[in-house]
Amino acid sequence: MSPHSLQHPKPYSIACIPADGIGPEVIAAGVQVLKTLSAASGSFQLSFTDYDWSSETYKKTGQYIPAGGLDSLKAHDAILFGAVGAPDVPDHLSLWGLRLAICQPFQQYANVRPTRILRGTESPLRKAAPGDLDWVIVRENSEGEYAGQGGRSHRGRAWETATEVSIFTRAAVERVMRFAFETARGRPRKTLTYVTKSNAQRNGMVMWDEIALEVAREFPDVKVDKMLVDAMTCRMVLQPQSLDTIVATNLHADILSDLAAALAGSIGIAPTSNLDPTREHPSMFEPIHGSAFDITGKGVANPVGTFWTAAEMLRWLGEEEAADKLMECIEKVCEKKIVTRDLGGEATTKQVTSAVCEEIKQAYAGK
Ligand SMILES: NC(=O)c1ccc[n+]([C@@H]2O[C@H](COP(=O)([O-])OP(=O)(O)OC[C@H]3O[C@@H](n4cnc5c(N)ncnc54)[C@H](O)[C@@H]3O)[C@@H](O)[C@H]2O)c1
Repeated sequence: MSPHSLQHPKPYSIACIPADGIGPEVIAAGVQVLKTLSAASGSFQLSFTDYDWSSETYKKTGQYIPAGGLDSLKAHDAILFGAVGAPDVPDHLSLWGLRLAICQPFQQYANVRPTRILRGTESPLRKAAPGDLDWVIVRENSEGEYAGQGGRSHRGRAWETATEVSIFTRAAVERVMRFAFETARGRPRKTLTYVTKSNAQRNGMVMWDEIALEVAREFPDVKVDKMLVDAMTCRMVLQPQSLDTIVATNLHADILSDLAAALAGSIGIAPTSNLDPTREHPSMFEPIHGSAFDITGKGVANPVGTFWTAAEMLRWLGEEEAADKLMECIEKVCEKKIVTRDLGGEATTKQVTSAVCEEIKQAYAGK
């Protein structure tokens, strides 16, 4: 029996926003696994509050988040998010109406995306086995290319103009760099690669590089190297073993982390944490994938990305032991080849979920 379970189970309040597409399917699976884990471990208790903020709500009411909605979210310890985006709502409205409308005011400035090849699964890279690709991508999550600055004029005319302005502030770059160095320091290889495009973008990206090197001086135990984002794609494919922790801008890391997930086996396995490291606001946890219109309602969405996300959420809440156990159970199920078709299997979302719940019960039996 763990020392924890002699005390009262620690309570956590989780806000669930399943939203669109396969979001509700994977979040339901994630909640089932988390409930099983909390019951089996006895060391923590989760209460879930559902928020029906989605593109359906938007179409009915004209808004994704009702008045006072963010204040309600603040009362929770963490937010578990599915995916937002619907075929009949422009993507920039759904993303800005829901996901960014939470991340930005809550200053969840560090978007953390671990990726590795899970045991029992295969990378599309011929020579990469589990252990050969084990990365954490830290994405600046509050400004950069997604700062929302810019405008359009002369709409529809031949001389129509649009600007999309990237914003880089010293304060935001410094804080995400420091977070990335701390993340790198906490990993065995203590190596940080900062990604840039300072050959072509000579203002914001040059400041980004300078700040990376300034902050590096505070972390003499961390090895640092620099990559231009285009060359980084080649290195990820050709020398995955050479990378560990990676820090990049909002846009660059958004793209690189999808590549990372695919190289690890599938976009369906990868997690994301949107962290407010000051802990003033709740942090938000979501699988990396989107609404996946092509498989919505078919019961074949891979729930592993949400399970891994749930493990990252528990880790953030301080439940390290349960997080490690959950990851172990996920990998055991992958080793048994109970996987969805994106990983080459035939299992449904429900079958993978039941198999992970079964592993959890066994892992804690006779604890
Ligand atoms: N964080 C978010 O909420 C988020 C992220 C990305 C995209 N989106 C939105 O989602 C919608 C669709 O975007 P997209 O097609 O570019 O990306 P997507 O991630 O939804 O889908 C890309 C491909 O990956 C597959 N896939 C995704 N998740 C999977 C899973 N769990 N299991 C198995 N296969 C999976 C899909 O079937 C599809 O073929 C758009 O509206 C987009 O704006 C939202």
